[in-house]
Amino acid sequence: MKINSNFLNLKDSYLFATVGRKTTEFKKAHPDKKVIRLSIGDVTRPLAPVVIGAMHRAVDDMSRKETFKGYGPDQYCYGYEALIDSIKGSYARKGIALESAEVFVSDGAKSDLGNILDLFAPENTVLVPDPVYPVYVDTNIMAGRKILYADANLANGFLPMPDFSVDADIIYLCSPNNPTGAAYTKEQLKEWVRYATEKNAVLLYDAAYEYFITDPALARSIYQIEGAKKCAIEFCSYSKTAGFTGVRCGYTVVPQELVREGVSLNKLWARRQSTKFNGVSYITQMGAAAVFTEEGEKEISENLDYYRENAKIIANCLDGLGIFYTGGKNSPYIWMKCPLGMDSWEFFDYLLENANVVGTPGSGFGKNGEGFFRLTAFGTKEDTQEACSRIELLLRK
Ligand code: MLT
Repeated sequence: MKINSNFLNLKDSYLFATVGRKTTEFKKAHPDKKVIRLSIGDVTRPLAPVVIGAMHRAVDDMSRKETFKGYGPDQYCYGYEALIDSIKGSYARKGIALESAEVFVSDGAKSDLGNILDLFAPENTVLVPDPVYPVYVDTNIMAGRKILYADANLANGFLPMPDFSVDADIIYLCSPNNPTGAAYTKEQLKEWVRYATEKNAVLLYDAAYEYFITDPALARSIYQIEGAKKCAIEFCSYSKTAGFTGVRCGYTVVPQELVREGVSLNKLWARRQSTKFNGVSYITQMGAAAVFTEEGEKEISENLDYYRENAKIIANCLDGLGIFYTGGKNSPYIWMKCPLGMDSWEFFDYLLENANVVGTPGSGFGKNGEGFFRLTAFGTKEDTQEACSRIELLLRK
């Protein structure tokens, strides 16, 4: 028996696991200190009442033999029509028409972003922005693929554009971006679609944070760009949109028009999912189906506004200290320059030890993240205010 030795090429632990371990160690050593976590993007607002109501009704359905549900319907890889219809409704409001068979319900974007790689041959070359959500890189290292990087930096506003002299087969984009908070305009995405089309590549578009966009010039979905259905797969999540980090539900769109080597990627994905996945629980799906109703959208927007307010609190604090940052406007992440010439992990330790505030070191997202630091707006308002007061006190000194 031989192990998949590609795993040996990974860093020892996943970025957020390292941050979590360091935080736990600090708390153990200093049980008297109140540590505030603005590190992993985990939500703190409770689920919207309309979601809770729908989940309660689904629990009742499970208690009666007439309405009890076993496996989900296999027609759409275990996605219930009520949920698929509401997802299609959300797309229709962005001017995008989808067929039910193009929408795949999952337990979250992270799983699908990793699982989608089953569809692609190991010899494909991957293009990943740097810095970016570490899952794209780690999953491709596991598969032994060659990875190229598109530099995201101050010069390009952390929004790299395609270089047509570079050949890639699989391209990742995340907009609004995790970690930098930068978001592509529709005009910029046209170029990426043109590039993917010219290279006969597939664009994997992570739209997990699209509900934070308020600027109409910014794209909410890659399918707002003409031709994208022929080259892109889109990954979405209820985690940040509707507070589902603990509930688990997401959806992936694989258009029927997406064909490579004469093979429909939609059919391949359906085959993969029906073989390796048994769907998301009925109760979760019914809760998710309530999110994109009129009432649901109103209720989630109150939570999104709450996080936007937190982002403003952090931004005001950094403005007051004269520290450069991006994000926080159409994104829940604030990407700040580490002060005092510190590198990312140095600033992590400095902030944890002296202000008992945890963030995420920028270098964990790629080499261009070195010297930067990510704070999330997903904490409670009280914690965010308290963290900012501590940061201000520390850095004013
Ligand atoms: C993050 O903090 O980057 C995210 O919460 C990670 C995730 O969504 O898996």
